[in-house]
Amino acid sequence: MTAPAGASPLLEVRELVKHYRARAILGRSAPPVRAVDGVSLTLGRGETLGLVGESGCGKTTVGRTIIRLQEPTSGQALLDGTDIFTLGADALRAFRRRVQMIFQDPYGSLNPRMTVGDAIAEGMDIHRIGTRPQRRGRVATLLEEVGLDASYAARYPHEFSGGQRQRIGIARALAVEPEVIICDEPVSSLDVSVQAQVLNLLSDLQRARQLAYLFIAHDLAVVRQVADRIAVMYLGRIVETGTAERVLGSPRHPYTVALRSAVPEASMEPATARIVLSGDPPSPAAPPSGCAFHTRCFHPARNERCRTERPELRPLGGVQVACHHAESTP
Ligand SMILES: Nc1ncnc2c1ncn2[C@@H]1O[C@H](COP(=O)(O)OP(=O)(O)OP(=O)(O)O)[C@@H](O)[C@H]1O
Ligand SMILES: [Mg+2]
Repeated sequence: MTAPAGASPLLEVRELVKHYRARAILGRSAPPVRAVDGVSLTLGRGETLGLVGESGCGKTTVGRTIIRLQEPTSGQALLDGTDIFTLGADALRAFRRRVQMIFQDPYGSLNPRMTVGDAIAEGMDIHRIGTRPQRRGRVATLLEEVGLDASYAARYPHEFSGGQRQRIGIARALAVEPEVIICDEPVSSLDVSVQAQVLNLLSDLQRARQLAYLFIAHDLAVVRQVADRIAVMYLGRIVETGTAERVLGSPRHPYTVALRSAVPEASMEPATARIVLSGDPPSPAAPPSGCAFHTRCFHPARNERCRTERPELRPLGGVQVACHHAESTP
């Protein structure tokens, strides 16, 4: 579901930059890792934006920076128009109730020494939501809502499978009644059948609670199942964004074309041949000049301009795309 036209987005990120300082090697300072290098995005109430790209392109850094698990280098992130990056301690606590994050690794993200019930109640304790008996009752309800037995509250994380742990992580995020959940590869470590169950659960919860998801994945096949809109990231920047239908149906950036070709059933046209990109993505500590994708590009019209001039996102055929030759993408 998309926000009504004209309404301001619930979450808006503007020109977000996060550079990690690299450790000096043999006394010589190394260039910074440009993990996120000017990302803008919006997220409406009840909407899912899929953020997709290869490993290391900066997806997690976007999520962690928005939620202030780490400080940005520059840029803005606005929740209902209020800049998240300038919040003081009290306002930050209130913000954390509204924006929650669930993580890829359902094993690492739960404290092994905490019962499931205490883990789910932790946010309610921090935010002083309800009385102790009320919180216990709410934990039971949340467990049932995510498809688990209320009696599991007394157990420890090691007693559960990956899929069950991810459900516990979801219950934990829901406990403080957030409006936005940043889902960082929530199903990447799960079997395909379990993936589908967890994705269905996330969709049901979204509908019931008007939740907005920033859904991070490296795989278009997963994003396709949940996203209203898609933003494709390459080396710290968004190279294409638009409705899921457009981005999957008629991608304009050659990188999106390659990602989509790996998911034949994502294509709304007859199956296309799989495009295997040559080489690894370049290092974000030394991104290529011009278009960062030019070193792996297969666009027939690629030329000198791609090596020298960085393409900015521009509207074309219903999407925003950062490619000099997007008009003639095959
Ligand atoms: N704390 C850190 N210090 C230095 N570099 C970092 C740090 N965290 C991430 N990076 C680097 O920043 C870049 C982006 O990393 P990030 O984890 O955001 O990518 P990602 O798209 O989430 O990848 P993946 O799909 O593997 O999860 C990578 O080159 C990574 O090595
Ligand atoms: Mg990541």
